[in-house]
Amino acid sequence: MSAYLDGLFGLGGRLAVVTGGSSGIGRAMAVALGRAGARVVLVARRAGPLAETVAELAGHGAEAAAVTADLADRAGVAAAIDSISRYGAPDVLVNAAAVNRRPPLDQLTDDDWDVTLAANLTAPFLLGQAFGAAMAERGWGRIINVVSQQAFRAYGNSGAYGVSKAGLVALTRSQAEAWSRSGVCCNAVAPGVVHTPLTEAVFADPQKAAGHAARTMIGRNGVPEDFAGCVVFLAGPASAAVTGQTLFVDGGYSAT
Ligand SMILES: NC(=O)c1ccc[n+]([C@@H]2O[C@H](COP(=O)([O-])OP(=O)(O)OC[C@H]3O[C@@H](n4cnc5c(N)ncnc54)[C@H](OP(=O)(O)O)[C@@H]3O)[C@@H](O)[C@H]2O)c1
Repeated sequence: MSAYLDGLFGLGGRLAVVTGGSSGIGRAMAVALGRAGARVVLVARRAGPLAETVAELAGHGAEAAAVTADLADRAGVAAAIDSISRYGAPDVLVNAAAVNRRPPLDQLTDDDWDVTLAANLTAPFLLGQAFGAAMAERGWGRIINVVSQQAFRAYGNSGAYGVSKAGLVALTRSQAEAWSRSGVCCNAVAPGVVHTPLTEAVFADPQKAAGHAARTMIGRNGVPEDFAGCVVFLAGPASAAVTGQTLFVDGGYSAT
């Protein structure tokens, strides 16, 4: 990388935490951050996919570690914060982990509501409280929250999921308001329909998948690699004046 590009996008010396970094969009973001120079700590429940991602990062010469935790559980989040802290003070926090329970609203149980809000909104809040204020004290940081189209409009049984993501957009603005003066930029990324394990049901139905692709301006659905460039930009020096925003990485899905 030239010195000029490194000054804009280089993440050397930074520690990045990526929840949900073992699969799909979070994994692509974690790999991109590692390849841009950051040390990366991945957080998820299953050890196998975490280990695979650590190995992928190592293959790119990036230092990475895994923390297993259930982020739908407050005690799990607290334990994760302790484990993450063993690697140092994070400079970048990416909240990509989420659950996607989407029954029709009249069949949504209290448990669906509680788990969805806990994993998708409370965990990013708690991790932000643990690491965002410390970033502000050090005078530099980045928080990137992965949200959804359902944060802005209801379709496909948005239910608790849409509520959690709308809350996460608002949390992003609250975090930006609190910490941006101290060098901590906080932004959200809104994907379109992206082929990952989370959306297997959509992609198992070719007509449904094609329908979503047709709604985009680029004529295709998303792939995890679409999120590499945007996360490196939002995690690095180049985005110093970008905060409180939602970046739609959706091929124009939301613009039609
Ligand atoms: N794919 C899409 O079309 C799409 C569209 C809009 C928004 N998004 C958002 O993009 C983000 C990534 O989604 P994805 O499609 O990449 O999904 P994915 O491939 O299913 O990955 C989800 C990740 O979150 C982790 N995770 C889930 N529940 C967790 C919990 N309770 N505690 C800790 N980790 C947990 C998973 O690991 P474990 O299962 O091992 O815990 C996995 O690493 C999510 O925030 C999702 O809402 C996705």
